[in-house]
Amino acid sequence: MKKLMAANWKMYKTQDEAKNTIKDLINILGTELTVDRDVLICPPYTSLKVVAEEIKDINYMYLGGQNFYPAKEGAYTGEISPHMLLDVGCSYALVGHSERRHIFCEKDELLKEKVKYGLEVGLNIIFCIGEKIEQRRAGQVDQVLKSQLSVLKDINNMSGIEDRLVIAYEPVWAIGTGEVAGEKEIFEAHKIVRDELKNIYGEVGNSIRILYGGSVKPDNASDIIGIDNVDGVLVGGASLHADSFSKIVTA
Ligand code: 13P
Repeated sequence: MKKLMAANWKMYKTQDEAKNTIKDLINILGTELTVDRDVLICPPYTSLKVVAEEIKDINYMYLGGQNFYPAKEGAYTGEISPHMLLDVGCSYALVGHSERRHIFCEKDELLKEKVKYGLEVGLNIIFCIGEKIEQRRAGQVDQVLKSQLSVLKDINNMSGIEDRLVIAYEPVWAIGTGEVAGEKEIFEAHKIVRDELKNIYGEVGNSIRILYGGSVKPDNASDIIGIDNVDGVLVGGASLHADSFSKIVTA
């Protein structure tokens, strides 16, 4: 499976900063990648257009939104639609990032609508899941991940889902903390996710990419992507600099 190396720039970078970072990244990585990987950049909405311009001729790079509201248009002040993301050049969007779940209180019902609607209108979806530290300490990782994945049970009749849906396992306690999950923890969590995907989708569940996210850095990326069922990474802090993200992409 081709690995997906994804950058989530969160609420960082003005248009100029975004443009400079993406130019630097392309300068380092080149117009053709030496490794067989997909690279996804998820800038804030205000920088989608400038990044789209820079990557339009780079065949290994894709553009993604960090969120959207599941409707075509309407009176939803402050929101953005999947159609608008597609219009600006996005082919992917994140759904259910832990910051959306915990800061903006997004619940499973809404996340299910987002995954379903986003896929229906043509976006590829990266559905983010992960447990909090207290849930891990209470031995609930299996239960939490299965419960978060259960929103997919109603979205199992789409052909080609294996190319359109990606899962990102991001333990909440490893996001932005510098505390990366250990190899055993990542292995076990990704195995739970893989088994659940097979429960929901049958054999096709073997071909859905599962990314790891949470304090991925140039010095741990290679070990992480070598773990069974790790089909790429979703990177926050270390994706903000071309130098460090390029090292992760080629790790
Ligand atoms: P960090 O890489 O900064 O830990 O962030 C991970 C993340 O939330 C990516 O979506």
